[in-house]
Amino acid sequence: MCGIVGYVGKFDCVDFLVQGLRRLEYRGYDSSGIVTVNKSGGMHVAKAAGRIDKLVAKLAQTEMSGKLGVGHTRWATHGPATDVNSHPHVGGDGLLAVVHNGVIENFRPLKQRLEAAGYCFRSATDTEVVAHLIASYWELELAAQPDLTPKSMAAQGYEPLVRAVRASLQKLHGTYGLAVVFRDYPDVIIAAKLGSPLVVGVGDGEHFLASDPSPLVGGTDKIVYLDDHEIAVITADSLRVLHRDLGEKHADVQTLATNTIEVDMAGYEHFMLKEIFEQPDTLRNTMRGRLKPDEATAHFGGLNLTAKELRSVRRIVLTGCGTSWHAGLVGEYLIEELARIPVEVEYASELRYRNPPLDDGTLVFAITQSGETADTLAAMREMKRMGHMTLAISNVVGSSIAKEAHGGIYLHAGPEIGVASTKAFTSQCAALTMLALYLGRMRHLSPVQGAQIIEQLQALPDKVNAALECDAVVRRIAEKYAHCRTFLYLGRQFNFPAALEGALKLKEISYIHAEGYPAAEMKHGPIALVDSETPSVFIVPQGAVFDKVISNMEEIKARGGPVIAITCSEGAKAIGALADDIIEIPTVADFLQPIITAIPTQLLAYYIALERGCDVDKPRNLAKSVTVE
Ligand code: AGP
Repeated sequence: MCGIVGYVGKFDCVDFLVQGLRRLEYRGYDSSGIVTVNKSGGMHVAKAAGRIDKLVAKLAQTEMSGKLGVGHTRWATHGPATDVNSHPHVGGDGLLAVVHNGVIENFRPLKQRLEAAGYCFRSATDTEVVAHLIASYWELELAAQPDLTPKSMAAQGYEPLVRAVRASLQKLHGTYGLAVVFRDYPDVIIAAKLGSPLVVGVGDGEHFLASDPSPLVGGTDKIVYLDDHEIAVITADSLRVLHRDLGEKHADVQTLATNTIEVDMAGYEHFMLKEIFEQPDTLRNTMRGRLKPDEATAHFGGLNLTAKELRSVRRIVLTGCGTSWHAGLVGEYLIEELARIPVEVEYASELRYRNPPLDDGTLVFAITQSGETADTLAAMREMKRMGHMTLAISNVVGSSIAKEAHGGIYLHAGPEIGVASTKAFTSQCAALTMLALYLGRMRHLSPVQGAQIIEQLQALPDKVNAALECDAVVRRIAEKYAHCRTFLYLGRQFNFPAALEGALKLKEISYIHAEGYPAAEMKHGPIALVDSETPSVFIVPQGAVFDKVISNMEEIKARGGPVIAITCSEGAKAIGALADDIIEIPTVADFLQPIITAIPTQLLAYYIALERGCDVDKPRNLAKSVTVE
């Protein structure tokens, strides 16, 4: 979703801002802009709808420069993607400029009041309200001290500016990560956070600001994660952090682990392809140090629950959105089968407004790649408020969900840049398998069963490597079917969530309509869609329901529908000519199949999107991290 980047220091910031915005592109955006403030020439804004190249073309027509500036990528919420609606937004006739991530829910009444007070609105955004609101408080400060120079302002610790920002924040309902720069004070950025991430990078005689650490690559690895309600007063040489209502706070400077900032494509054409091929390694990283063969179980350092507490769990709720919700469905099968604990999987967007009757023995897991998804965060908070233990399964270290949970499991899959989640999904499934093993071994799973599961998990990265060998076959199949307008994805048991996930991948990046169904359910409606131009992707590796799925395949063939089968070599022999195309994958235990079958479905979506000329890493309308409701 929207991204923020900022700089104040000894160098001109325009190139850094543009490069930082490019690093934030993966979050999804539809317009961008920057503002600089300099000692000689005041404040300058450039913004453009469309890709960052459009902004760069505009910048080439200007002579914008400055040692202080902020930039923004916007993902439209209020008002379409136009130049005018792009950020930064200027407040109070050019006194200041604001960039903002999040949503201001009470922007309408605030706007009415500000319009009545004479402020002139140019955009349809909620953010412009923030700009004028801060300007209105800033004008009051100016009226009291009209002669504030940059020097006297610095001598006051920028307190008048902080007061204006703080007073405005107290009027806002909603979420924000925001940065404010002032035309007449070219040495200070004021940033504030509530429900939308912001980090400050600490350099030598310079500071950076960003909505996630990726723009800081090469600038600094010293980072301060702002917490909700915090305000940062940032100059080249100083960083002051204060709580909006409670005053001064200590800025906790952390060192960013290098693997969280490796964001290059490593020679691949797209981040998505790189991330698909990384999966043997990312799975190793997720499992590293967590399998305990001597005790035939798994072990997690950060659950923050005692064995006694875990043994008393009577029900588990798994919640998340999109792909993370699909991983939750895999988790339901896993935990119920291996640990025999009843599991419910809830869309976070629904759970946050429901009032489910959950008893004391309920444990809630929020599953999320980014750790910032607004609905998942809100659902987790609601579960916490109800008194339930809430744990996070998240990829991004230090993310809001990870920080607010009682404990959790990090995926250690490294940064996922492609908007379509791939390696995070397989790591989520691996983490849930280890969790099911751990909970199962506290209950009825024998040491022999535990040891078998561990062996199968240890062999998994090599199996994924072998599954990746289907790449060339999948590419050919993609070329054959890329023109089709609807796909069905069908699977049963563990492969039903795999079918949902396969369909989501295709939809997201190729814009082809795709539906995932339990294979047998297809007869109850979706079969009406079947014709010679509607391929059905059967995820049918092997196992107890293999023959049943073959019958479903027959039903599709009888209606002239093309069949693509994802299966193991045994399965391929049994399916024979019934399928038009077969993608062979290695054999694994049924509970690990969603991880293996994810590989061909990810590749199929990727190559079909490529064939159709779609922007694989930045699909239209989508954002990597959905930080609005
Ligand atoms: C996955 O391909 C999607 N882009 C999307 O469904 C995503 O999984 C969802 O928005 C949840 O994100 P999270 O895992 O970061 O919470």
